[in-house]
Amino acid sequence: MDDRILMAPSILSADFTALGDAVREVQEGGADFIHVDVMDGHFVPNMTIGPPVVKALKRIATIPLDVHLMIDNADWTVQWYLEAGADLVTVHAEACDHLHRVLQSIRAHGAKAGVSLNPGTPVSAIEDVLSIVDLVLIMSVNPGFGGQSFIEGSIDRVREVASLSAEQGVSPLIEVDGGIDARTAPLVAAAGARVLVAGSAVFCAEDPVQAMNDIRAAASAAM
Ligand code: DX5
Ligand code: ZN
Repeated sequence: MDDRILMAPSILSADFTALGDAVREVQEGGADFIHVDVMDGHFVPNMTIGPPVVKALKRIATIPLDVHLMIDNADWTVQWYLEAGADLVTVHAEACDHLHRVLQSIRAHGAKAGVSLNPGTPVSAIEDVLSIVDLVLIMSVNPGFGGQSFIEGSIDRVREVASLSAEQGVSPLIEVDGGIDARTAPLVAAAGARVLVAGSAVFCAEDPVQAMNDIRAAASAAM
């Protein structure tokens, strides 16, 4: 397993009136991915941004756009995000009628495919698609909002994904999203997570780059 912790700051907690500046700041400060939270007011009780913003971000991004789709109907709208320039697209197992097909179509477009699970969905739900994904995203809060508290049971779920992957002889990146900060990052890193999403802990900090690098350092020390 790759032993580097990759940081994916979530722009959900950035200042939307200065989104470009926020993205430039963290990418120049060493971020590995820009995490883009897409919400539809239907699958989750909040609404955020869509393809036009992904397209605009693509113009300034020097690192991959990690697009997290918290939307119903991803089966067909996923194409919009691929065309907008998403490098990695993660769909929810709970929101796709044809999960296997969606994941295949993401890869067919040349992007990396991710599958995500809400805290209440058993890890076994992704058993049959694990071999066709590049990333598994374990939600450590119920999706919809930034700034929520980390659900401690997520640590065991990360372990479960890691052991299921080992059993199948595959090694998708394990990403964790929700309530990640310098306290929780080491817990999930020790369990096998390698990509850490952090929204409020980065963008609500006085120095976002410092905060991001502190989280990475804390996680790296726990591996
Ligand atoms: C939540 C989103 C997260 C969110 C994380 O539904 O998927 O990416 O921005 O925010 P924090 O890090 O504040 O929990
Ligand atoms: Zn997210």
